[in-house]
Amino acid sequence: MIKNIVVVGAGLMGNSIAQVFASNSSLNVILKTRQLKPDRWEPIEQNLDMLVARGVLTREEKLAIIGRIRFETEDAVAYRDADFIVECYPEKMETKQELFANIENYCRDDCILATNTSVMRPTEIFSKCRLRGRCVGTHFWNPGHLIPLVEVVRSDYTDEWVIDVTMELLTSCGKKPVYCKRDVPGFIANRLQHALWREAFWMVENGIADPKTVDDACKYGPGLRWPVMGPMENSDLVGIELTYNIHDYLLKYLADNHEPSKCLKKMLDQGDYGFKTGKGWQEWTSEQKEASANGLKEYLIDYALRQKKSSK
Ligand SMILES: NC(=O)c1ccc[n+]([C@@H]2O[C@H](COP(=O)([O-])OP(=O)(O)OC[C@H]3O[C@@H](n4cnc5c(N)ncnc54)[C@H](O)[C@@H]3O)[C@@H](O)[C@H]2O)c1
Repeated sequence: MIKNIVVVGAGLMGNSIAQVFASNSSLNVILKTRQLKPDRWEPIEQNLDMLVARGVLTREEKLAIIGRIRFETEDAVAYRDADFIVECYPEKMETKQELFANIENYCRDDCILATNTSVMRPTEIFSKCRLRGRCVGTHFWNPGHLIPLVEVVRSDYTDEWVIDVTMELLTSCGKKPVYCKRDVPGFIANRLQHALWREAFWMVENGIADPKTVDDACKYGPGLRWPVMGPMENSDLVGIELTYNIHDYLLKYLADNHEPSKCLKKMLDQGDYGFKTGKGWQEWTSEQKEASANGLKEYLIDYALRQKKSSK
């Protein structure tokens, strides 16, 4: 039975993932960091305070979550009793490979090792491990404490029991795990997302619509369906015959470039990095950037509130 969780790396994802596991009252969570910074609780407290302010959590629940998280810097102390270790290190292959090889010096042989890589193949990340059957991909989405989806990704080595235990663990923490049977680059959701982004960028590049119009076409149209109906169900709804006929006519006209869009390259060369520099596909004032980031968070908190009400 899983009891002791270790989250390695207290950055953006590590903090929110530690919070997710600590929301399950039967788990103890260690957040493994290099140093014990005086402000180490700040990101977790900020996330939790926002949830308390909106009534998703009570103050007592917030304190209980914090009470289940402990920061630790020593490898031997952090890993020795762990049942499940998930890394949230920077997205660099060698760094993750070295990390897991080191963790194996300290953890038990039956401890599950998980990577939160965004796109890299877990098969490669775990290739230097001694016991590869216990290794699995768990791709959380940012913000990790608000987006329910976690992709559980099977590597070429992963044992069946590891998938079962990981799916069960994530469900017990209020997540919606989905099982990706093979670790293809991008797993499931990023493949879907970037197929759409490729088409969006192609349309802007070819003068079919401007960037804001493309976003509006998503937000006020198909995007409204997606929280309740994915493409497979939608295809059944409209009918397989219609789906076939649409694809027979349309697919040959869709973007199929295998390199990043020329517009992206041009913006990179010009130093237009999006929110970071105030200009990307469009220009962004500080107020617009704040409204965009807060708008998403508020939407996700509303979603969490609805979930909480419907589970009562
Ligand atoms: N940011 C996202 O939107 C997002 C979403 C899903 C998955 N991911 C993946 O999650 C992982 C972490 O991303 P992030 O955005 O949290 O990165 P981040 O830079 O915010 O955090 C990385 C953390 O690792 C720590 N770290 C680095 N080297 C270390 C070492 N030797 N010892 C201890 N700590 C060390 C850093 O101090 C930092 O706290 C990456 O693999 C990323 O691809 C990110």
